[in-house]
Amino acid sequence: MEIKPAQRISQVKPYFFADLEKTIAQLEQTGMDIVRLDMGSPDLPPEDFIIESLVENARRPDMHGYGKTGGTFELRSAFAHYYQNRFNVELDPDKEVLGLIGSKEGIFNLSQVLINADDLVLLPDPCYPVYRAGALISRGETYPMPLLAENDFLPDLDQIPDEVAQRAKLMWLNYPNNPTGAVAPLAFYKEVIDFAVKYGIVVAHDAPYVDVCFDHYIAPSILQVSRSKEVAIEFNSLSKTYNMAGWRVGVAAGNAEIIRLLRLYKSQLDSSHFTPIMEAAKTALLGDQSWIQDRNLVYQDRRDIVVKSMTALGFSIEMPKASLYVWAGLPDRWNDGIAFCDALLKQTGVSITPGVVYGDSGAGYVRISLVTPEERLMEAMQRMNIWMKE
Ligand SMILES: Cc1ncc(COP(=O)(O)O)c(C=O)c1O
Repeated sequence: MEIKPAQRISQVKPYFFADLEKTIAQLEQTGMDIVRLDMGSPDLPPEDFIIESLVENARRPDMHGYGKTGGTFELRSAFAHYYQNRFNVELDPDKEVLGLIGSKEGIFNLSQVLINADDLVLLPDPCYPVYRAGALISRGETYPMPLLAENDFLPDLDQIPDEVAQRAKLMWLNYPNNPTGAVAPLAFYKEVIDFAVKYGIVVAHDAPYVDVCFDHYIAPSILQVSRSKEVAIEFNSLSKTYNMAGWRVGVAAGNAEIIRLLRLYKSQLDSSHFTPIMEAAKTALLGDQSWIQDRNLVYQDRRDIVVKSMTALGFSIEMPKASLYVWAGLPDRWNDGIAFCDALLKQTGVSITPGVVYGDSGAGYVRISLVTPEERLMEAMQRMNIWMKE
């Protein structure tokens, strides 16, 4: 029998990293040592007190039933406490906070609750691929907002034609940014909120790297802008801030009606987390935060190694103030990022990501992740150096 997929899925391309995994597995079978600088999954563990909370709660007999959809009140209150403490933003844990099974889940589901066929979604280009996949699977249309070096990788709102802004229903933003490593000042968020209020557009700000900052930089939240809750929702995550990517704990915070819709949708879809994970997430949010600074220094040292080595090889790089990525413009003699990354992987075993995976404006770039120990990172830079000078 021929299985006929629903139209909404037939246009979806395989996730880039799923294909990459297959290529890497084949190369490893030939005995090649691969250095992975492609994905953004933190290599370091969370602090012990967080793991201990998980273990203690997992031992309790009353912790093994279904969890609460959208998180326990205690977890939602812990997120509200974090927003108050970190950004001076007040949130109602019942109406303005929703726990997510990783922010990716909420990011995808936001399109399912807001976007009808032919609704228009404004997307940064390049961007985290799930914004586009969510819009396309809802049968929406997308409109690119190029992130260019000359605009500090911020979208230029003046370049969005009036008729496009009138039609747009949702705008995605993400700072500190994946893949460019760029950051956004609060003044930019103010401009965005004014624009969104004027045109009646929902703003979804995705901020999983907000606490992965370097050189004393402190990233703001879009919810710090007055009137933001009228139009905006912010996604945040424990994945990068607390080295807990596999635990799958994220949050949506902001506009109460959007939170209500996401909760309604989720109530049909998932049965929440394992409660000890929610307890440990609460412990992470309410406990000592000072270790995050030390962890960021580890990433900062790795960033410096990559930026120094690759700049010397002719890549053009803005020193990132935050995120887990270095965004590197290819040297002139290379104009195809896919061919570059493919050749680098197959000839040296160093795996980095072609920028075009994140959108057309990423075509002349590659992305290097900083989630690999310094020793391996140096090994990768050395292999790249020898190969490029051949
Ligand atoms: C920009 C961005 N948003 C969201 C996510 C997903 O994070 P989570 O682990 O919370 O699902 C990632 C993961 O790499 C990301 O880079």
